Amino acid sequence: MPDAQTIGKEHVRGRSLKGEVVVTRRARFNAAHRLHNPDKPESWNREQYGRCNNANWHGHNYTVEVSVIGEPDPETGYVIDLHYLKKLVNDVIVEKCDHKNLNLDVDFLEGIIPSTENLAVAFWRQLEPHVKQGRLYSVRLRETESNIVEFRG
Ligand code: NI
Repeated sequence: MPDAQTIGKEHVRGRSLKGEVVVTRRARFNAAHRLHNPDKPESWNREQYGRCNNANWHGHNYTVEVSVIGEPDPETGYVIDLHYLKKLVNDVIVEKCDHKNLNLDVDFLEGIIPSTENLAVAFWRQLEPHVKQGRLYSVRLRETESNIVEFRG
């Protein structure tokens, strides 16, 4: 491939710098859940999960941050089109989880204990096949202001 300088000025302008860049899209959703392992006795669940085992659910205001890494495309200057990433996070996570019960309503969470850790891994698996520009780098999920998990698959 010829060096960008040799093809013409418009291509020189379109050169990108070498180096990987992390691009992040943040989204929010509200959902209910219950931490409960059906394979364990009620007493185990109560002791393990405390208030999070409440039989009639409890809710969180979640924040999810999806990061994609790669070198900026020389033609666009983008690692990934943020309009695409916004729509992807919205379609794959927010539309499926917002105002839902994570134990009952979300197909890809069926049979999964909806801890923050498990949710981050499940979200990664939903997102990963659709990231074609750059590559998925991390899924960070904030369950409360102070409790944050990050998964890098
Ligand atoms: Ni909870």
